[in-house]
Amino acid sequence: MSDTAPILFFDSGVGGLSVVAPTRALLPGAPIVYAADSAGFPYGTRSEAEIAARVPALLGRLVERYRPRLVVIACNTASTIALPAVRAALDVPVVGTVPAIKPAALLSRTRVIGVLGTEATVRQPYVDDLAARFAGDCIVLRHGSAALVTLAEAKLAGDVPDAGAVRRELDGLFSQEHGARLDVIVNACTHFPLLEAELAAVAPPGLRFVDGGPGIARRIAFLTEGQEWPAGVPRDVLVFTRLGEAERRLAAALRFARVEAL
Ligand code: DGL
Repeated sequence: MSDTAPILFFDSGVGGLSVVAPTRALLPGAPIVYAADSAGFPYGTRSEAEIAARVPALLGRLVERYRPRLVVIACNTASTIALPAVRAALDVPVVGTVPAIKPAALLSRTRVIGVLGTEATVRQPYVDDLAARFAGDCIVLRHGSAALVTLAEAKLAGDVPDAGAVRRELDGLFSQEHGARLDVIVNACTHFPLLEAELAAVAPPGLRFVDGGPGIARRIAFLTEGQEWPAGVPRDVLVFTRLGEAERRLAAALRFARVEAL
């Protein structure tokens, strides 16, 4: 493997940048290709069949083009539905993103935790399984939010998120039975940590948010330990599956060295 081989991050949109940030902190010399499936965005309102058909095929094309040393599916929706199929289809290591229910259960004192993800993620049997294995003595509430995904995309393009809209999404958890006792919320969509400040501003005092980003970054660092990185500051690439006006506006705000269409 050449030491210029990048790490490829994949998401439907900009959410995976919440995984890139902690990875970049651990691996400052790693060249990154960030791929956003803008033509398929959003994933959260799609069916399992659509995601299962789309994601392995797209990643196959991306791996062929960019020859990464490692693929990171920086998307809970795609990971909880398509991770085994992607692993079977690719001949590079693949790291997935799964809802951080285990760390949330370790933190919770009230034993009531919330899983805030996309509609597709929160209905996955994978989430039932994580809850049963790691939070068996907790009440696990779930809420699927498409609005927070849209708000995070807009924020990164330069808009100011509406606090009322963010509060309404949190109310989707707090208004449920036992919701008043929630003390930890899992950000089970990679877009949501991008709204960390906005979520904290409308959350009750003492509520904690957890997400998988830091754990995934540690896993990437572990899997690439001992590998060489190119000298100098890496020139990261941003790839869209559809490169229209909205994507160009986002790209201008995100400042990657190169922007390409798949
Ligand atoms: N960022 C994605 C996730 O972690 C999906 C957002 C979407 O496209 O709905 O689930």
